[in-house]
Amino acid sequence: MTLSFYDTKPYDHQYFRHAAEGTAVRLRYHDFRLTAETVSSAQGAQAVCVFVNDRLDRACLTALAGLGVKLVALRCAGFNNVDRAATSELGLLIVRVPAYSPHAVAEHSVTLLMALNRKIHRAYNRVREQNFSLGGLVGFDLHGKTVGIVGTGKIGRITAQIYRGFGCRVIAHDPFPMTDWATAQSISYVPLETLLKESDVVSLHLPLTPQTNHLLNADTLALMKPGAYLVNTSRGKLVDSAAVIQALKSGHLGGVALDVYEEEEGIFFEDHSGDILQDDVLSRLLTFPNVLITAHQAFLTHEALTEIARVTLDSIQRFNDQKEPVAERIVS
Ligand code: NAI
Repeated sequence: MTLSFYDTKPYDHQYFRHAAEGTAVRLRYHDFRLTAETVSSAQGAQAVCVFVNDRLDRACLTALAGLGVKLVALRCAGFNNVDRAATSELGLLIVRVPAYSPHAVAEHSVTLLMALNRKIHRAYNRVREQNFSLGGLVGFDLHGKTVGIVGTGKIGRITAQIYRGFGCRVIAHDPFPMTDWATAQSISYVPLETLLKESDVVSLHLPLTPQTNHLLNADTLALMKPGAYLVNTSRGKLVDSAAVIQALKSGHLGGVALDVYEEEEGIFFEDHSGDILQDDVLSRLLTFPNVLITAHQAFLTHEALTEIARVTLDSIQRFNDQKEPVAERIVS
């Protein structure tokens, strides 16, 4: 079977080529994203493989179904970029990789917080310029601080345990609390408002849904402790970036670490170093010394990429063999 593969990067080639060896799946790589405008490139394919910034809206899905595509395989966990109502109406099967390495994402979120807190991003540049001064590099001990984990799914729980290892007090918020786990880890669930008021670090680990869109906005950011840090490795639209800029300008927020950005589509994953950045909000965020941004790389470990390629190919092969795919099927 032919699989059209979108938004391909060199590491995708490397890991998927290896995983596809000996299978009946023929990979057709495209370096552009799948959208309603590019969907004709799926002609002749029975399945497509997409990532976080491909846009599977109704128009794109309708065109895919019209071309005879039967399976959409997301090589990621989040599926907020898919119109799920349209997929079930069109009879398309959508699969994703629900968990590849929650450790990869959890470890990256803590790495961002640690680097930001101890000003590693600034120290690195200084030392390379033979500037060995320490002015402005004062951080804080994590030990004894309160960390608020919003969303205690696979990634949130690992992140919480890492912070427990630092000797932090960890509080959590989730509409579906894991009470046994929390008791074992000495973590208590609290309402979101309490979490925001009490935490020195707020770390987001929940999916983007219509209910969680801009969960952190001007009102909820105002509830945060003055000087608190915000970490988001989940989805950009969980946070109102314009409100974050205001909270940074006023000094209310102590620091912001982001691996995701609400308008990252078309910017992240690409080299724009020779371009004039047109996104004024992102440009402003990049000017703050207490903001650290990575371009959606929390998943980028050898273990995670190996597992993403293995599970996705397994799923596609099982679909081809008329078996139920192993990767989680997304239902509306
Ligand atoms: P999960 O499905 O295991 O856990 C999500 C948790 O969020 C669940 O416990 C759920 O009950 C909770 N939740 C839902 N609505 C909530 C709300 N309003 N308030 C608090 N909690 C709420 O998901 P997982 O695997 O832990 O992923 C978490 C996030 O990380 C997702 O948004 C995913 O898209 C993102 N992610 C980011 C990656 C990156 O490379 N930056 C890679 C993989 C995932």
